[in-house]
Amino acid sequence: MCGIVGISGVRKLPGGLLMEGLKRLEYRGYDSAGLAWQVHRRIWIRKKAGKVDDLWGDLPEDLELRTGIAHTRWATHGAPTDVNAHPHTDSDGRVALVHNGVIDNYRALKKALEARGHRFLSETDTEVLAHLIAEHLNGNLEEAVALALREVEGTYGIAVMHVNEPGKIVAARRGSPLIVGIGEDGSLVASDAVAIVGRADRVVHLEDGDIAVLNGKEHEVRRGSGQVTAAFDWSMLDIPLTVADKGAYPHFMLKEIMEQPEALEDCFRGRIQREFGTARLGGLNMRPRDFLDIDRVRLLGCGTSYLAGAVGARMIGELARIETTAEYAPEYRYSNPIVGKNTLFFAISQSGETADTIMAMREVIRKGGKVLGIVNRVASTIARETGAGIYIHAGFEYAVASTKTMLNTMMALFLFALLVGRMRDLSLARGRQLIDEIALLPDKIREICALRPQIREAAMRFAEAENFYYLGRGYSYPVSLEGALKLKEIAYVHAEGYSAAEMKHGPIALIDDKFASIFVMPRDSVFNRTFTNLQEVRARQGTVLAITTREAGELAQFSDAVLVLPEVDEILSPFLTTVAVQLFAYEFASLRNCPIDQPKNLAKSVTVE
Ligand code: AGP
Repeated sequence: MCGIVGISGVRKLPGGLLMEGLKRLEYRGYDSAGLAWQVHRRIWIRKKAGKVDDLWGDLPEDLELRTGIAHTRWATHGAPTDVNAHPHTDSDGRVALVHNGVIDNYRALKKALEARGHRFLSETDTEVLAHLIAEHLNGNLEEAVALALREVEGTYGIAVMHVNEPGKIVAARRGSPLIVGIGEDGSLVASDAVAIVGRADRVVHLEDGDIAVLNGKEHEVRRGSGQVTAAFDWSMLDIPLTVADKGAYPHFMLKEIMEQPEALEDCFRGRIQREFGTARLGGLNMRPRDFLDIDRVRLLGCGTSYLAGAVGARMIGELARIETTAEYAPEYRYSNPIVGKNTLFFAISQSGETADTIMAMREVIRKGGKVLGIVNRVASTIARETGAGIYIHAGFEYAVASTKTMLNTMMALFLFALLVGRMRDLSLARGRQLIDEIALLPDKIREICALRPQIREAAMRFAEAENFYYLGRGYSYPVSLEGALKLKEIAYVHAEGYSAAEMKHGPIALIDDKFASIFVMPRDSVFNRTFTNLQEVRARQGTVLAITTREAGELAQFSDAVLVLPEVDEILSPFLTTVAVQLFAYEFASLRNCPIDQPKNLAKSVTVE
């Protein structure tokens, strides 16, 4: 959600270096930003509501710093105002701190601190941390941080400075990701590797309970009772320097939609075995026998990852004949889940850092369940804690609205379904046929991307609509939910997804000539049924966009606009229809001049519950 970046330099560095890191973190939260830097025994702070660019104007033009911490915020406690922006300090301004996460017991801590004379300025939960650390200070910042954190309940990733220890940054993690990096300029800390790409040569991902001390080239990470930084797994950053560059595209979202043909290929390349009509997924670390033992699959995720799971559940049911459901991770966690011996769980998350999904995963692991990860970000919390699973290889996704990671997650699940299906009842001929069809998907997606002008025209036809239903059946039902989610997220329009069949059981009451319905209806086994539902809407003067395959045919007569996608096997139709609903949402939002890459109230990865 929020973003942290800090540097303890070996020499004076331009302040822009930290601001550049902060800018790259902006996709994580962007309602306010702030920077603290130290000059000898004084800490300077500038912070402000608004975007990172707004903060620039408040900084000295020739700002140079040796030590600094910076933050971009997604508000949880307290409105996005100047005073609630991070960094926060203690009453004397001697401790400066930035924080990601939520301090659950902050009210009790604040009350006790106020009773002891501490003065608070903000409405945030974070500010208590600065005061607590100040109270425990006795000459050594890391000791004070360790003692203060013992009193804290909740989640945190923090970076702290103190006036008496110029050059030093102390960082600590519990439940909110932090990474420490070492580079030519000194030691760095960040909540997301993207902030320090190009600055750090080697990185180590902090684990819960770790405390890191950075001081120029010197650094140590305390894990448990030891201080054994050297023994940790340092790794190279696998993110290219160009990740935060949208090239010729006006928005990252469009760039990422257009990248889908290649991204999808990256997910299945090297993982299919045509000869046997099956897939190979080495990262699952499972023996053939283990696959035969599975009698249930549960797919846990949130938002678009959940919806990719909902598509995948159908695929696994159809190909592998295993009873599979997708579950909203935060609901599942609190449902006292039944964890069967032969149930296989997948925690699905683009970022691998979504708190709701992590907590559901941990609940299942605690009950003895087997959980595998389906993630995009290598070495993220879910990837590390599951230790096995499927990387979706979508490349870096920067836009808040997930696009290419949905397609790749569906592909990962499809490959799993094919693999297990071929170990059970799926024939060699059908396996091969599906593999041949997969190979054609990238070109078919390119064809859909080329339909952009037509999709824009369709978006123009509906430009005045303030209410949308997305309606589909079978594989198109979860795609309809995703279409509605995308439109809400980036165009701020009321949109709801329903099964086209369910619509007549209530939602149809709202249909009139101002209410738009988008039917996701490839020519599949439920096409005729969906067509009946479309006519039901039409009979009530509803406006209709039909997204179909092969030909418009009779749909043209009953719809205001029809988008025709290439023909595709029913089970693979979500790989095409999803792209169409993404592009519709994009064009619709762009016609309304919405800030597509930074929609209001959202952040890329939701690291609080
Ligand atoms: C998708 O467009 C959203 N931004 C959101 O629903 C997202 O999919 C969800 O928060 C889950 O994120 P994750 O995949 O990183 O776990």
